[in-house]
Amino acid sequence: MIGAGELAGGRGRRLLNPIYYTIVIVSSALLGCGQDYPQSTIDPASGDFGAAIHSLYQTVFWWTMLILAVVWGVLGWVLFRYRARPGGPEPKRIHGHLGLEIGWTVGAAIIVVLITIPTIHTVFQTQREAGEDALVVEVIGHQWWWEFRYPEQDVVTANELHLPVGRQVDLRLWSADVIHSFWVPRLGGKRDLNPLVRKPDGSLAINRLTFTVDEAGTFMGQCAEFCGPAHSLMGLRVIAAPEPEFEEWVERMKTPVEPDSGSLAARGREVFMGATCVACHAIAGTNARGRLGPDLTRLGARTTIGAGLLENTRENLAAWITAPAEFKPGVKMPGVAEEGGGFPPTGLSSEQVEAVAAYLASLGR
Ligand code: CUA
Repeated sequence: MIGAGELAGGRGRRLLNPIYYTIVIVSSALLGCGQDYPQSTIDPASGDFGAAIHSLYQTVFWWTMLILAVVWGVLGWVLFRYRARPGGPEPKRIHGHLGLEIGWTVGAAIIVVLITIPTIHTVFQTQREAGEDALVVEVIGHQWWWEFRYPEQDVVTANELHLPVGRQVDLRLWSADVIHSFWVPRLGGKRDLNPLVRKPDGSLAINRLTFTVDEAGTFMGQCAEFCGPAHSLMGLRVIAAPEPEFEEWVERMKTPVEPDSGSLAARGREVFMGATCVACHAIAGTNARGRLGPDLTRLGARTTIGAGLLENTRENLAAWITAPAEFKPGVKMPGVAEEGGGFPPTGLSSEQVEAVAAYLASLGR
């Protein structure tokens, strides 16, 4: 049999070693010193939705701090007041205390109500309908990338959502395959993208999300609903810019880019248009009108490729075109030698891949 003394002398003593506590406390405190919070709900960007959620979070946080202080205060007082003393009397035995029981039931109920009121208020505040002049963007989830359509501007893009600062946006979200969830923590959210099916009342399962960003910048987002092997690789970026800059972006998206004749990019354009690329990808102003994969209009201007996976460089583009499944398991895009999503390998030579990468990179000017 192991005696209590042995336990305290072995593992018990190690657990009570103050060095362990010091390490845990110091490392926890240092974790709070980081300066970069790309995906933090408790560092919301200036705007309505994220701020509303953060304010609710703070309300609940301070309520729980109050509860913590009261419970630990009472506990500490009891431990001190009724501690064992040498020669002290046996403690009195008590069965139930009506006053106390009513107290902690009613007290807890009041706290729950006080947390419920701002919660319901925030739920309605963040579910309200968009105004008439809000910017409409259709957000369509795919395994594993994001499609953004601007019906009023007649622009389609992928993985980087451009928004004007200070203007309300009206996102309409659905999915082309399984359920995804749009989440940009610093702007609020999340909201599910459901497969496009009819609900019992005949309407389509389109979710709406309305918010205003009041701060220019790039905000990181992530699919927040498990949607298959590459769920964690389904990133997005929201790029918020002042309205004139946003309008310029729209204009650029609508202006086709032609590679200089005789350049490697021009050769790449020829390869791209003659290969199976065009079955799935669209580039505005060309004969590429595929809709199964991401729209590649002005691809060169995007910061990343593969839904936030790789930095957008010509080398990475070539590597991605060669073997996309090496970066994103289960991706529907075929590689040079491997099929993908039921599509045959593209069979492009490395020279052709280089040319296509040069062409896509040139689509940024
Ligand atoms: Cu899309 Cu997870």
